[in-house]
Amino acid sequence: MSSYPKTSALMARGSEFLGSEHAIMCGAMSWVSERNLVSAISNAGGFGVIACGAMTPELLDSEIAETKKLTGKPFGVNLITMHPDLFDLIDVCARHEVGHVVLAGGLPPKGSVDAIKQKGAKLIAFAPMLALGKKLLRSGADALVIEGMEAGGHIGPVSTSVLAQEILPELAAENLVFVAGGIGRGDMIAGYLEMGAAGVQLGTRFACATESIAHPDFKKAFFRASARDAVASVQVDARLPVIPVRALKNKGTEEFTAKQREVAAVLDREEIAMAEAQLQIEHYWAGALRRAVIDGDVENGSLMAGQSVGMVKAEEPVADIIAGLMQESEAALTLRNRV
Ligand SMILES: Cc1cc2nc3c(=O)[nH]c(=O)nc-3n(C[C@H](O)[C@H](O)[C@H](O)COP(=O)(O)O)c2cc1C
Repeated sequence: MSSYPKTSALMARGSEFLGSEHAIMCGAMSWVSERNLVSAISNAGGFGVIACGAMTPELLDSEIAETKKLTGKPFGVNLITMHPDLFDLIDVCARHEVGHVVLAGGLPPKGSVDAIKQKGAKLIAFAPMLALGKKLLRSGADALVIEGMEAGGHIGPVSTSVLAQEILPELAAENLVFVAGGIGRGDMIAGYLEMGAAGVQLGTRFACATESIAHPDFKKAFFRASARDAVASVQVDARLPVIPVRALKNKGTEEFTAKQREVAAVLDREEIAMAEAQLQIEHYWAGALRRAVIDGDVENGSLMAGQSVGMVKAEEPVADIIAGLMQESEAALTLRNRV
């Protein structure tokens, strides 16, 4: 018998699909979601996901092997669609019999869905809007994540609450839809479950868990921050596209704006080709997340964080965070049932 009967009942489809006790996924966070955090999440009844990011197939291979040494519970691997070795990474997951592959960063390239599913893994894909969600399901995705712009990291333009209203009533009865972005408390989880979500995905709330290897200064920056400090990066010039990233304001975010102006000016003077200018913008943040998470450079690095950062006040073990979320959800559902 579950300690959280109402929440567990609403999470039943999601938990069964993930093979975890609770349908709470910890979204992959580059540099943060490695063996320690991933295994801690899965061991605590949630579902951890390794962030492959820019890892080589060899690195992913050893990360999965090391994670397996720390947990016997299921966990997933997040692959970025534009990774040049995507198909080799899919093979690595298959060799390790990883049960769930999460594809992020745009529509899956031709052949990738079949490659993942052929090897027996379940595919979870991000649906940025209803039409694409339907398309992804037709193409073979087994579950969707809808993620609003409150989230940390790369974001789309629409809020979680609007995406949930657009997508859940259409798709959630027949399909597995997980909701992400801006979830800080269990009350919110209860709300999305009642709307039909199979489960939820959180990142920001887990980034500073005791088991997270993030640098102490990275964690301190989170504890100090409020929702309004987690801002989306701004594109300055239409010729220089910027995929918005939500991160804590710091010297680096200010300098990024200045850098865009500088490159635009060089472009105006025709001293640089368009492709080169766009590359300079794209590469500006390369390595920045690592600088913040691993080296603790909170001034110049990228402190990716969602708006729920204001609800992250101290380092807590993953098990306590998950238990707290489940208790809050259960209390919210109990209260609503009484009305
Ligand atoms: C520090 C950080 C790094 C992230 N890196 C990735 C990533 O590499 N790949 C990815 O698909 N999502 C990434 N995300 C998004 C998370 O997986 C998750 O979907 C998101 O954090 C959920 O929203 P929340 O931050 O409001 O909880 C990242 C988020 C954070 C905070």
